[in-house]
Amino acid sequence: MKLKIALFSGLLGLAYGLSNADPVMVLDDSLGLSQVSVFAVPTPAVFEYRTLDPKESGVLPRYWEDAPPQVPHRIDKFLPVNAKSNKCLECHEEPDKIGKKVKGKPTPMSETHYVKSAADEFTVSNKRYVCTLCHAPQAEVGTLMENTFRGDTAAK
Ligand code: HEC
Ligand code: HEC
Repeated sequence: MKLKIALFSGLLGLAYGLSNADPVMVLDDSLGLSQVSVFAVPTPAVFEYRTLDPKESGVLPRYWEDAPPQVPHRIDKFLPVNAKSNKCLECHEEPDKIGKKVKGKPTPMSETHYVKSAADEFTVSNKRYVCTLCHAPQAEVGTLMENTFRGDTAAK
């Protein structure tokens, strides 16, 4: 019986404590990533994409195996990618050279970017036609949130 009473009064104490807990203060400028009031309309920081031409860009590290490689060079001259034009393919579609990368030359797209006919002919897969869906151009920008993620299989 003693135990029951102790338990009951413990619960009562807990309920009382909760109902009287100090309200937690959350300031409106600590809610979003931009760290300004939620009522403000902050101007995004200005940044520029890389302006290096392909032959001088080199390549960027890959963060994990099978991650789509980041685009190391400028792409403004090669856009838009649409049904009539795909400049990316003019350089990267080289089915005869798959897996044979030469420094300073366009990396041939891997086999995953093609469909193979019965006669072993490669055609670019429609699913991989719009390159920039997966391959992002890069820019120097500040870090919004620190992130400690590291793929172990980095940089090829
Ligand atoms: C004028 C030829 C040319 C065009 C057009 C071009 N690229 Fe490239 N691209 C290159 C070259 C050259 C490299 C490799 C640079 C090196 O290895 O030094 C490269 C590298 C890349 C890489 C990195 C590959 C790796 O191994 O890490 C990606 C991704 C890429 N390009 C995507 C694109 C996309 C997307 C487009 C279209 C918006 C495009 N490229 C248009 C020549 C081109
Ligand atoms: C649906 C996502 C997706 C699209 C769209 C896509 N890629 Fe990729 N790409 C990948 C992934 C994932 C890899 C790395 C794994 C692999 O090779 O399949 C890759 C790898 C590559 C590589 C490096 C190949 C190697 O052997 O290292 C090049 C170059 C490339 N893509 C170019 C392109 C170009 C050019 C286009 C447009 C015609 C394109 N990709 C469209 C996802 C995509």
